[in-house]
Amino acid sequence: MRVLLTGGAGYIGSHTLLKLLQDGIDVLALDNFSNSSPEVLRRVQKLTNSSFATHVGDYRAPDVLDEVFEKFRPDAVIHFAGLKAVGESNEKPLTYYAQNVSGSINLLDCMQRHGCQNIVFSSSATVYGEAQYLPYDEDHPLNPTNPYGRTKYFIEEIIRDWIASRPHASAVLLRYFNPVGADESGNIGEDPRAIPNNLLPYISQVAVGRLKELSIFGNNYETRDGTGERDYIHIDDLAAAHLAAVKYAHENHGCEAINVGTGTGITVLEMVKAFEEASGREIPFKIAERRQGDVARSFAEVSKAQRLLDWTAKRDLTDICRTAWNWQSKNPSGFEH
Ligand code: NAD
Ligand code: WQD
Repeated sequence: MRVLLTGGAGYIGSHTLLKLLQDGIDVLALDNFSNSSPEVLRRVQKLTNSSFATHVGDYRAPDVLDEVFEKFRPDAVIHFAGLKAVGESNEKPLTYYAQNVSGSINLLDCMQRHGCQNIVFSSSATVYGEAQYLPYDEDHPLNPTNPYGRTKYFIEEIIRDWIASRPHASAVLLRYFNPVGADESGNIGEDPRAIPNNLLPYISQVAVGRLKELSIFGNNYETRDGTGERDYIHIDDLAAAHLAAVKYAHENHGCEAINVGTGTGITVLEMVKAFEEASGREIPFKIAERRQGDVARSFAEVSKAQRLLDWTAKRDLTDICRTAWNWQSKNPSGFEH
């Protein structure tokens, strides 16, 4: 099977790239490095001791995509590329709709013209919005609360309509909960360009001395200890879910949305404590105001992934903190050093 990865040099793309290569799948990584570094692909090459196809370019440009499809003739696409900062999407909604929604339409159009029938799409648990019940199952009403989340919702709907019009096509919409951690090697990992928005990279950068202290956004939520509770999924498990999903798409028809999480919530304070144990460093923190748009609790119902993909998360909180620290301490300034 030949698989095209849009955004293949990004955080989730690079770990999936590694997983697919280790499984012997023929891959092409397409990226414009707008939020990643070429060094990522060099490191994946070294780790696998294999060469694979790459293409530097913007996935939204029809000529770039046509060239890639003609050259590589993918059987399936895993579509990671896009913008992902919730706060920024409130300030620049049109940029988010153009990058994420219009870009995805161009990609589907190109797939159609080249007879490529299978897509795995990076969706997000953010499509659910405020929980009406927990855990979130795939039938939970969809009510995203920010433009970023709405781009994911709209793309899901567009893919559904596209699949409905093509009897032999297949799509898996993977709704990730909170991806964290790094490859065991410590050679690739999450490397945000600006001050991290997400909890784990922020804690990692405090531990390594790049940031002074963590602000915990609220300690008066209705949770075990008052801090926000999330379903953190190890990146290696997430990469394995993509491998299972692309195989599933290859062998089945239709469109399925599938949660990718562990089914268990971890609070911010629990994460801080686990990271301190893994790193042997103290994580200074202060309690700050709640962050606008945050929910108290979020965790996944995971039986559909097990049923359809024969996939479950294998890594726990200790693995998450150990691998995140291994990556951060080996690469204190990320890929650029
Ligand atoms: P990332 O920013 O690390 O990776 C995205 C990659 O796409 C980057 O390498 C970037 O350079 C590339 N890219 C962006 N625009 C491009 C374009 N126009 N043409 C070519 N390449 C382009 O992000 P990530 O964390 O790996 O996320 C991957 C996908 O998963 C995104 O669609 C994101 O919305 C989704 N997702 C991420 C999370 C998360 O917490 N990380 C959670 C849910 C869903
Ligand atoms: C986790 C918990 C914060 C930072 C986001 C996106 C979501 C998805 C995953 C893409 C919360 C708390 C955080 C900090 C803190 N991305 N926190 N101090 O908000 O669950 O999800 O990433 O699809 O769309 O919204 O993840 O890591 O930002 O926050 O106290 O400096 O940590 O309040 O309880 P979130 P997060």
